Order: sequence, then structure tokens, then C-alpha cells
Amino acid sequence: MTPAALQLDDRGRLRHLLTTEGLPAALLTEILDTAAQFVPVAGAPVKKVPLLRGRTVLNLFFEASTRTRTTFELAAKRLSADVLNIDAQTSSTSKGETLFDMQRTLEAMQVDMFVIRHGSSGAAHFFARHAAPGVSILNAGDGRHAHPTQALLDMYTLRLHRPDFSGLRVAIVGDLLHSRVARSDIHALRTLGCRDIRVIAPRTLMPAGIEELGVTPFTDMDRGLDGVDVVMLLRLQRERMRGTLLASPGEFHRAYGLTEERLRALGPDALIMHPGPINRGVELSGDIAYAPQSLILQQVEHGIAIRMAVMAMIIGRGETE
Ligand code: CP
Repeated sequence: MTPAALQLDDRGRLRHLLTTEGLPAALLTEILDTAAQFVPVAGAPVKKVPLLRGRTVLNLFFEASTRTRTTFELAAKRLSADVLNIDAQTSSTSKGETLFDMQRTLEAMQVDMFVIRHGSSGAAHFFARHAAPGVSILNAGDGRHAHPTQALLDMYTLRLHRPDFSGLRVAIVGDLLHSRVARSDIHALRTLGCRDIRVIAPRTLMPAGIEELGVTPFTDMDRGLDGVDVVMLLRLQRERMRGTLLASPGEFHRAYGLTEERLRALGPDALIMHPGPINRGVELSGDIAYAPQSLILQQVEHGIAIRMAVMAMIIGRGETE
């Protein structure tokens, strides 16, 4: 079964969240609308609601993370779940235990939801295929494949500033080859009605056949940026690069970095996004991350509400209905 089919139950409701690919627009919109209801929790005197009281959420991260791991943990705690964090480096997988056996072991502890980040594309799908009844899997990023909650928080942030996606011109810039964020954003943007999505990268970082996702590829940054409303920058994922894909980070910055000059050419209304972590002086210059047009910190903040929404819709359902 494909990840897209596996993640919905027989009533079309979320059972797992593995990818934005194939999720209907109505479901994406329901997640964004549910997140909007959770945003005020962050400003309440007691930052907690009881939706997941008595439930257990387990964060299982096999790759480094600052934003995703902490906002998943905060989201689960603000929903009153019990939260376990497993550092995969010191887990028994380092002694040879397989993922399958690890999953069975943790399920025996009556965990309700696994949040998993893994370097291999398909790892979350593997967990979902083998999940015990009643156990749900949330993909926190698998290899180059998908990072669905990142895309959802990106859509939430963008929708606050540009509610109608139909006339929006969006450029996604940088390391498309290794980016699970780009793939998840493209699927979500298209499903929500965006028709002008450009992807900008050097040939070495442009996946073959990417236009099949409904995007227009550019290798010239300035041509690709012409007239866009939103620039989504991507991190250069040097940890995934094999061989020489780039002359140097400095050369990449000259050809594909968002500089002050390019920011001026975009105009004051253009919006800047980046999933983080940012590489200053590579994807963007100086303090552009904190320029008035930058939504980067809003993206981080909205990650909590989006993750609360997804968890509440999957395992808090009984209490919300
Ligand atoms: N955007 C993102 O996934 O960041 P982290 O790697 O810090 O979680």
C-alpha cells in the first residue's frame, strides 16, 4: 500500500501522517483550521489542554533536529500527553536491534503514537505498515522523501499572509535534490490551489523529472525569481551529498543566495520562508532571516499548533467529537 493510501482510515480520516502527497484539499484545510484553534494555547496562562490526557507519544529521532523534535514534544505536552524521547544514538539499535523489533518492543509499552525521523526514505512508511491496531505514526522527516508537518506549518504561515493561493507565484530555491521539505511543500501548494511553482537550483541539485510534480524548473536564479510573491529557501544538505555537486558554498551563494540586492528587486511585499536550520552567507545573506518580509520565526512558532492539530485529529478524536 502506498504511503498516501495507508495514512487514511476507511472513513477518509487521518490514521497516520506520512506525506502530503494525495491528501485531499479538505483534509489539509481541516488541519490548518484545527491548528488555528490551538494557536491561543501558547498565550494562555496555563499552556495546556486535556485532549491527550492518558495518551503516550514517543519521539524517535535517528537524525539531528532542533525545531521538529522540540515542537513535537511541546505540542504533545500542551495536549497533556505523556511524552518519551528516545535518542536513537544510544538506543539498542546501536547494538544491532532491527527497526521492526524496536517497534514491537516500544508498542509493548502501550505507546499510542510514534513520531519518527529517519535518514532513510520510507522509514515512517515501514513503521506505519507494521503498526499495531490503534498505534499511529507521524513522519517527522524521512530521507529525501517527505516532511509533512513542515509543509503544513508552511501552508499555515503562508495562508495567514496570502489567504488565496490561486494566483500566488512561489519560488522554491536551493538543494531540491535532497529536500523532503520541497517535495512536501509542492504537493501541499498544488492541492491548495497554487498553480505557479518554480523550482530554482543548479543542474547538479535539480532532480531529474521534477517538472512531473507540476513545477517549472529554472537554473537561473534571477529569471526564476522574476515576479514571485514568495521565496522558499532550502538548506544545502551537505551531509547527504556524495561527490562534488557544488564548486563551493560561496559560489552557490553568488548564483543562488538571497542577497540584499535580490531582496530589493523582489520588492517590499515579497515573503521569505526557510524551514531552517539556515546557513547564513549560503542560502541567504546577513540578517535577511530577520528582515520584515521574513516569516522564518513564524514558521517555527506555528509548528507547535500544527503538530497539536495533527495529534489531536488522530488520537484525540474521541474527545473532540
Ligand atoms: N525544519 C526542520 O526540520 O528543522 P530541524 O531539522 O531543526 O527539525
